[in-house]
Amino acid sequence: MKQNKETNKKGTNIMGNYFNPVKIKIDTIDVIEDILSTLHSQPRKILLLHRGGDFSESDAGQGLFKSLGDFEVKPLEVNISNPDVEDLFHFYKQIESFDYQCIVGIGGGSVLDLSKSLAAIKGMEIDSISTLRSVIKQKLYIKNKKFVPWIGIPTTSGTGSEVTCWATIWDRANGVKMSVDSEHLYAHTAIVDPALTTSLPKRLTASTALDALCHATEAYWSKSSNEISRIYSLEAIKRIVKNFEKVLNQPNDILLRKEIALGSLYAGLAFSNTRTTACHSISYPLTLELGMVHGIAASITLAKVMEINFDSIIENDKLLDAFGVSSCSEIQELIEHFHEQSGFSSKLRDYGANEEIIETITSKAFTKGRMDNNPVALTKEDVVQILRSIY
Ligand SMILES: [Fe+2]
Repeated sequence: MKQNKETNKKGTNIMGNYFNPVKIKIDTIDVIEDILSTLHSQPRKILLLHRGGDFSESDAGQGLFKSLGDFEVKPLEVNISNPDVEDLFHFYKQIESFDYQCIVGIGGGSVLDLSKSLAAIKGMEIDSISTLRSVIKQKLYIKNKKFVPWIGIPTTSGTGSEVTCWATIWDRANGVKMSVDSEHLYAHTAIVDPALTTSLPKRLTASTALDALCHATEAYWSKSSNEISRIYSLEAIKRIVKNFEKVLNQPNDILLRKEIALGSLYAGLAFSNTRTTACHSISYPLTLELGMVHGIAASITLAKVMEINFDSIIENDKLLDAFGVSSCSEIQELIEHFHEQSGFSSKLRDYGANEEIIETITSKAFTKGRMDNNPVALTKEDVVQILRSIY
């Protein structure tokens, strides 16, 4: 592995730019009426993406439909996770004739990422999946003048999508992950209502919280980390670590849910400006090849990557303090404990990995903008070693 010169000089990155234009309301979802009234586009038609299932009958669903009573609303059920370019095309065709002026997305990361993507490509002429693939790859949506504002209402605490300007769209036919990514695509407003997360099942509570923990930690050591983002990172880590087990055992405790929701929000605010690094980069092929849940795929390498990065991390003592530990190996133990508490294994063999798959994962682990954002430049040998160490 090569040390990165820019960030290896600890303390040199004491300045930095921070930008996030999302209006944040930590409130109940009925504030949406006020938010819509302040939109310049004065929307009449609203596209509402939600997670499907019993959403329409739930308190949240009923409340939201009531608050949107004065608008023409087209609900769109998103009953998939980890949206693929084919899914995005399918949804795009379903709503093409509905001339919406705003999108409201209420759900987990997949719902929010699709909301953001549909906002980006609104009104573009896209007649096939391959055209859509080109629109995403060539970032043609950046020049789209017809994009519409969107409002994000997360119902999981982890994705951070409500405060970031990119969305993950998978391209399974080509075995890669793509991004819809532009500063236009920040949500107009994020409504963070912790009450929406009390019905989350245990494994989803855990995996999304672990995703947020990785966002915060990777943001802390990212090449683009700065004075402001690091404060959000540390606050996020403290809240998530302190309340992780408690919220698994007391899922209906609204104060615990609020702590995790704030942890996720702060993590989002941190990595909205820094992006993620090696752990997320390695997680994408772990998900593609082994079907691992995103938050587990990201957290399974967190301590190992931290060990490699450790000497390049600015104020690394503060990072350990936030986790409440004194070494990277204690973080490995902590993450393994969190996995165990939530019913996940910390070993790749339990997800069907073998030597050949480790090779494949390694070859796909170098995502542009993520792996090269790690403070230490990892080699293929480093990645193989990391993966073998958690086999
Ligand atoms: Fe993530």
